[in-house]
Amino acid sequence: MLRSVILAAARSSRVERLVETAPFTRDVVRRFVAGTATDDALRATRELVGDGLTVTLDYLGEDTVIAEQAATVRDAYLELLATLSAAGLTPAAEVSVKLSALGQKFDEQLGYDNARAICAAAAEAGTTVTLDMEDHTTTDSTLDILAKLRGDFPGTGAVLQAYLRRTESDCRELATTGSRVRLCKGAYKEPESVAYQSAVEVDKSYVRCMNILMSGDGYPMLATHDPRLIAIGQDRARWFDRDVNSFEFQMLYGIRPEEQARLAAQGHTVRVYVPYGDEWYGYLMRRLAERPANLAFFTRALVSR
Ligand code: FDA
Repeated sequence: MLRSVILAAARSSRVERLVETAPFTRDVVRRFVAGTATDDALRATRELVGDGLTVTLDYLGEDTVIAEQAATVRDAYLELLATLSAAGLTPAAEVSVKLSALGQKFDEQLGYDNARAICAAAAEAGTTVTLDMEDHTTTDSTLDILAKLRGDFPGTGAVLQAYLRRTESDCRELATTGSRVRLCKGAYKEPESVAYQSAVEVDKSYVRCMNILMSGDGYPMLATHDPRLIAIGQDRARWFDRDVNSFEFQMLYGIRPEEQARLAAQGHTVRVYVPYGDEWYGYLMRRLAERPANLAFFTRALVSR
């Protein structure tokens, strides 16, 4: 119920204005978002890489409605990749992109062209791109674009969401040599016809999908903060004889940093998803919807001011 209310607020421009102008907002945003500029992204990446972690950077934005806006997002990634490369932070840092921010929803070809330009810049910088997955109406289009991009840039990865009923089958398709799949639970509000609704069902699906990816030939990227799923991931690595270099764990910036450090100290590759940019509202609201404790954090920041 609470999750539905927050996810509805994530789509409301009225609530967005209220939250953006509230005096407490800055502190809350800072916990989950690295900052607004390329330099902020660079600073956060330097710190994380210095701590033995790897990074994937997300220039925040989604649901772009005009070509100029999509070009601005593309150019922000091009600038970021050149900056990371010049700073010697590739390949430790790669980028994550939302195709809807690149024009996918109103012009699929434009979304592809912009994504292709980013993949080319990433290849030039010696690193990779992973396509984020948005609501279920975009899944087919995103996987089609992934297949086309992989023709020229085989290291391009994609996210699959365990809450979708189709995802086991998508995992089977993508558990092949050279394929990089980031498996997450899923963060959008989806109807029962396409998605499991209960946490138990989602967790069970995550384990089934993980089994397919970990027993396959691709490179699984287990994106979760869930201690049980992380332990099952380590167990499956032993079971399917995967060494620590053949898969990785991934977590979001600001969430369970002590667990990120613990896994890295055990020799695992741990990649931190670092969002930055002005368009942090939708991202922040999805983080708050995930966990009541995150909401309590938000409220504490409100009353302590
Ligand atoms: P969940 O939120 O269910 O938490 C499970 C348990 O983890 C909790 O019970 C608690 O024990 C622990 N935990 C979680 N948060 C904690 C905290 N702050 N402090 C302490 N313990 C905590 N989604 C999407 O739809 N499309 C996408 O492209 C992506 N991309 C993406 C990339 C990466 C790298 C990550 C990590 C996640 C995504 N997501 C995503 C988001 C994802 O779908 C999901 O919403 C969140 O990761 C939260 O799910 P968890 O698996 O962490 O479990």
